[in-house]
Amino acid sequence: QKQQFVVLTGSLRQGSYHAAITRALPELAPANVQVSQLGSIGEFPLYNADIQEQGMPEAVTTMANAIAAADGLIIVSPEYNYSVPGVLKNALDWLSRCNPQPIAGKPVMIVSGSPGNFGGARMQYHLRQILVFFDAKVLNKPEAMIGQVHTKVEELQLVDADTREFLSKQLLSFTVFASH
Ligand code: FNR
Repeated sequence: QKQQFVVLTGSLRQGSYHAAITRALPELAPANVQVSQLGSIGEFPLYNADIQEQGMPEAVTTMANAIAAADGLIIVSPEYNYSVPGVLKNALDWLSRCNPQPIAGKPVMIVSGSPGNFGGARMQYHLRQILVFFDAKVLNKPEAMIGQVHTKVEELQLVDADTREFLSKQLLSFTVFASH
């Protein structure tokens, strides 16, 4: 029985470095693990309780069901202004209103990158705080923060060998973490 992880990407940009990292994860995962990409959070409307009262948007329910069915959730996101990008917070706000809330008790791994040296570290600590409300089971260590990310992606692919090796070790740690 393969473990199944799903990946949520926190950038909507066509040439996104985080989308490139997301696309690399399936091939970097251990053989007994299947990694698949969730739909785009760009399909979610801006959170509005009036919309929710008319029924959860389909994109939200589809993602919530996929997360609920998975053995683990991986969030790959940039840092915006030292915090979580608004589009990611919006997606999490929607998901938090689903019943049952799909991230409760779910193993979660965070990956961030940045063209700077800090690799989105500050965003990760805000995201961890949000995930406290969700009652997620977040992997504390090892951490995955990728500095100088723009030098590691070429033609929309994560090509840097060291980063690929680092992420495959990270996925192995998460696989062990998620299995108990
Ligand atoms: C950024 N960027 C950024 N980088 C960082 O390390 N710390 C930060 O606080 C911010 N803040 C920030 C705010 C806004 C509004 C933008 C648009 C960008 C730079 C960011 O890391 C860079 O644009 C990445 O390339 C974004 O990730 P994707 O879209 O390539 O996945």
